Amino acid sequence: MAGRIPPDFIDDLLARTDIVEVIGARLPLRRAGKEYQARCPFHDEKTPSFTVSPEKQFYHCFGCGAHGSAISFLMEFDRLGFREAVEELAHRAGLEVPGGDQASVQGPDLAPLLSLLDAAAALYRRQLREHPAAGRAIEYLKGRGLSGEIAARYGIGFAPPGGDFLLRQLGTSPERRRQLLDCGLTAEREGRHYDRLRDRITFPIRDRRGRVIGFGGRLLGEGKPKYLNSPETPLFHKGRELYGLFEAQQAQRTLERVLVVEGYLDVIALAQFGLTSAVATLGTATTPEHLQRLARLAPELVFCFDGDRAGREAAWKALETALPLMTGRQSVRFLFLPQDADPDSLIRAEGVAGFEARLSDAPPLSRFFFDHLSLGLDLNTLEGRARLLTLAEPLMARVPEGAYRSLLEQHLAELARLEPRRAARRSGARAPRPLVSPEAARPSLIAQAIALLIDQPQLVERIAEAPDDWRLASSPGVAVLESLLEMIRAYPTITKSALLERWRDHPHFHYLQRLSVAPFLRDVPENGAAEDFIGALRRLGTEARKEALSRALTQSSVTQWNEEIRDHIERTMRRS
Ligand code: UTP
Ligand code: MN
Repeated sequence: MAGRIPPDFIDDLLARTDIVEVIGARLPLRRAGKEYQARCPFHDEKTPSFTVSPEKQFYHCFGCGAHGSAISFLMEFDRLGFREAVEELAHRAGLEVPGGDQASVQGPDLAPLLSLLDAAAALYRRQLREHPAAGRAIEYLKGRGLSGEIAARYGIGFAPPGGDFLLRQLGTSPERRRQLLDCGLTAEREGRHYDRLRDRITFPIRDRRGRVIGFGGRLLGEGKPKYLNSPETPLFHKGRELYGLFEAQQAQRTLERVLVVEGYLDVIALAQFGLTSAVATLGTATTPEHLQRLARLAPELVFCFDGDRAGREAAWKALETALPLMTGRQSVRFLFLPQDADPDSLIRAEGVAGFEARLSDAPPLSRFFFDHLSLGLDLNTLEGRARLLTLAEPLMARVPEGAYRSLLEQHLAELARLEPRRAARRSGARAPRPLVSPEAARPSLIAQAIALLIDQPQLVERIAEAPDDWRLASSPGVAVLESLLEMIRAYPTITKSALLERWRDHPHFHYLQRLSVAPFLRDVPENGAAEDFIGALRRLGTEARKEALSRALTQSSVTQWNEEIRDHIERTMRRS
């Protein structure tokens, strides 16, 4: 894949870029105090909650939470990949992106593979119209109710029988034959090459930019395997790609709701009926990469699964993968289809209205979550409720802290008939906060310190005012804070957005991004950041010392026992 762009270059690029100009060229920005405002381009709104800070070189929408640097903005708004966004900004700034040529040296050169795949797609499409054996394919597609227009929109084609069609057309040199293998169009057995797709209907799989990166091929009748998909290649990773995503984005600029279905023909049939926002996984379970991509795309995801046992199991897996994305912003629902139906057959049988009605009735993640966990449990018994707690807790811990998790916890407590305070403590969260403004709650001390430092990198100058004990804390955040401090010391003029960009490839990037706009930051008074920063570190230091001490002194059962005694004493005192 693309060569790594040195972080120094990104710093330099962002230093020469003015985010206000970049965004201002795409949205009407209006000055409001130190910042600029606009109606958010990433969600529908009447009053502007999208702000751009020239000082921080950072944008943030208080309505939908979108935020980031000029690079992130181009990635989201112009739908560019990271490298493309960097190239776009570099072009504006008159800079040359380093590593452009090395990119192709590191792996196989992708350009010829892409052009072969594109040529193959064109050849297959043409065979559908011209090949003497294509009549059956056309009949088959018509029989499945597909119009010529929709077939064209999805680039459907026909791979002729035999095994040397592409080889003859495109494999004109040993190098080209090697490339055909590399992009998965042909396979090799005992030294002989042959076309992978033979006598099949072909579905090009396109990446986000519309470039063909692989194919699916369906048999014309019964038989095995019914579908043959491209193997993993340098261009095609089925755990990342979603069939129909490009076409869905072509049809609608902003997607409100994305349907995740299982099959190529489900996507196409739904589109033919006007539901253009369906995508399919490519014969795999939904991966975290899929979900992350989808979550950035649409606030609402609906998974369609068979109603049978296998379908429910697949849905449960998807649910588990989705848990880390469940902030209050993302809605995830599950549509279970009737026996032997798939979205394709259902929309034909029930029409758009019928299908839409099912979509609106699809249970939200929380309902499926508790229903599935309660399956076979008798919640009228203490044992059943205890079992529910044990099952739910580790899963709920994967949900990011915040409004959504608080509500899940509250519901679990109700189901288990626990006092809410106990439920929250059990699942490792802090005590429930008033529900009026759950998001205003502060994250952990180390997270507060990190968020403040990202927001105002110049706080680095005040670090000496806090004793060093915070470094003893056992949180993984300590290492993060330490490297942030180091980065800022090395680049004292770094802005919030450039600082965050330095973490883009790091596993904690998304976490840091979220922290960088933590709601509590809004409540920090204009000149109070240093005080809060040092205060958080101080308290963290005190906690770390206590923690180290109690770790040394006791086993956990003794502490727990002490806690219960303390609880008891407190309660008795209150009563008297
Ligand atoms: P289904 O068997 O549900 O296919 O497989 P479908 O989409 O309903 O197909 P039709 O309606 O019979 O044409 C769902 C998806 O699983 C993958 C394909 O991506 C398919 O679209 N699959 C299925 C394979 O990769 N190989 C197979 O042999 C079968
Ligand atoms: Mn089907």
